[in-house]
Amino acid sequence: MRNKLFKRKSLELIIKEKGQSESLNKVLGVRDLVSLGIAAIVGAGIFSTIGLASFEGGPAISLLFVFVAFACVFTALSYAQFASTIPVSGSAYTYAYVAFGELFAWIIGWALVLEYAVSNIVVSISWSQYFVTMLEGFGIHIPAWLSMAPQYALEAHQKLITAGPEALTVADKLGLKAYESAPRIADIPIIFDLPSGIIITLITWLVYRGIKESRRASNIMVMVKIGVILAIIIGGAFFVNPENWVPFAPNGLHGVLGSVAAVFFAFIGFDSISTTAEECKNPQRDLPKAMIITLLICTVLYVGITLVLTGMVNYTELNVKDPLAFVFKYIGVDYLAGIISVTSVIAITSALLVYQLAQPRIWMTMSRDGLLWKKFATIHPKYKTPSFATIVTGFVVALPSMFFKMDFFVDLTSVGTFFAFILVCAGVLYMDYSGLSKQSKFRVPYVNAKYLIGIGFIAAWLLIWKFNPGVFQEWKQLDYLYILEHKSLIIIFWLVWIIMSVMAYKFNFSLLPVIGILINLYLMTELGTSNWIIFLIWLAIGLVVYFFYGYKHSKLNNSTE
Ligand code: ALA
Repeated sequence: MRNKLFKRKSLELIIKEKGQSESLNKVLGVRDLVSLGIAAIVGAGIFSTIGLASFEGGPAISLLFVFVAFACVFTALSYAQFASTIPVSGSAYTYAYVAFGELFAWIIGWALVLEYAVSNIVVSISWSQYFVTMLEGFGIHIPAWLSMAPQYALEAHQKLITAGPEALTVADKLGLKAYESAPRIADIPIIFDLPSGIIITLITWLVYRGIKESRRASNIMVMVKIGVILAIIIGGAFFVNPENWVPFAPNGLHGVLGSVAAVFFAFIGFDSISTTAEECKNPQRDLPKAMIITLLICTVLYVGITLVLTGMVNYTELNVKDPLAFVFKYIGVDYLAGIISVTSVIAITSALLVYQLAQPRIWMTMSRDGLLWKKFATIHPKYKTPSFATIVTGFVVALPSMFFKMDFFVDLTSVGTFFAFILVCAGVLYMDYSGLSKQSKFRVPYVNAKYLIGIGFIAAWLLIWKFNPGVFQEWKQLDYLYILEHKSLIIIFWLVWIIMSVMAYKFNFSLLPVIGILINLYLMTELGTSNWIIFLIWLAIGLVVYFFYGYKHSKLNNSTE
């Protein structure tokens, strides 16, 4: 059994299977890929969650963007090496199949559902919010009961009963309006987010019709998106008052790191480019290039936007859902605020498109391997798209987005994605160790980490001892139960660092993937224990599915190769 679970797929087999399976259209070049990448990355994160992040962390959030971008660059290099070695759809899932064997591949494929389908639930809810605001600007009002998850309305109603009308915020009042005006069946109010359901249906239809159509739509939307962001940076720069940048980090490191999930969410998506490997003209050459270019462009745009936002308006004003439009309203340029809300809707639409495109391709690959039902690999005879998997993705995203709150899904997406990123970086170390790297057309630049990881560990402790000695005293006073509940994640981080130091010494690890692992893991610890627990429950459900279906039907396990 052990052999079966950890049986790895060979590169030769992957290439052979690729030749046998029904092929997808090969139409994508570097420009298309960068465009798809930007379409995926720049979405709800920068258009909405940056507001709350700046409110909590102040202008220093711009530095957090740089820090998180580093984690992403190291990960992107690892993705690029994998994509240049294994040019088929499936992303981190396929890579894990080669590096770690079937069980890990399944786990990663399962975690990627969080990154693509679940993140799209968040993005579509956010799209709906912007869309409703945009229509308001044109004087069209969608009833409250048709534009939110029922929980918002029920909570508002509950709050009214327990705390009275004075306690209601603007959002609560909207929720209450939905509760009171909703039609009822057997006294149960009917409340759901209709725009969210409609946009996912439309996007699913577009993706079902074919990559060419999606590409054209995506390219246009990305141009609009970059245009508006540049306009905000350049136009907004004239209204920056440098006094707003002081203090730079009003709530200290704690305030800045508290926004990791929101900032990371804004970067999620660059890896989705690699899921289109089968549709690239020259994946080995183009995918690495495209991923790095995409990430560079986005980091520059994000840092620029953060500095402009926090420079135009004091950070304490930024606790809003539409910060980009808000700052222009704040300084009295209403027509620009209007243009920005319209373009935000377009921008978020393009993010939706990429994730709806990526998820079915991962399922298709898993199905080809026998780990998911055969139907998931069906290719539409005319449109050449994974038709069944695309429709399933539509349902999986549309239904929860109409009936559930977004908050829960934001953190879940981030935990799952960090996990996938860590495994991809680790996979490169395995490729180096096993000699598979020799077949990579692109390699992560090699710096020998033999001593550096251990030296880094000691240096980190010396720095803590020098600049924050109180922390040792603090730890001494904590009891075991408290440590278990609140500090176990950071303990895991330091333990992994020790293990990596030893392994780097033993196997001459490459430095950049190790840094990728450590930064991703550190950021993951900032997401808190409850998110880790939910993530572990998700993984446990995945394992049940695997042992009931995939384990028995796996093509690799049933073959003699
Ligand atoms: N990075 C994507 C966004 O910001 C998920 O919407």
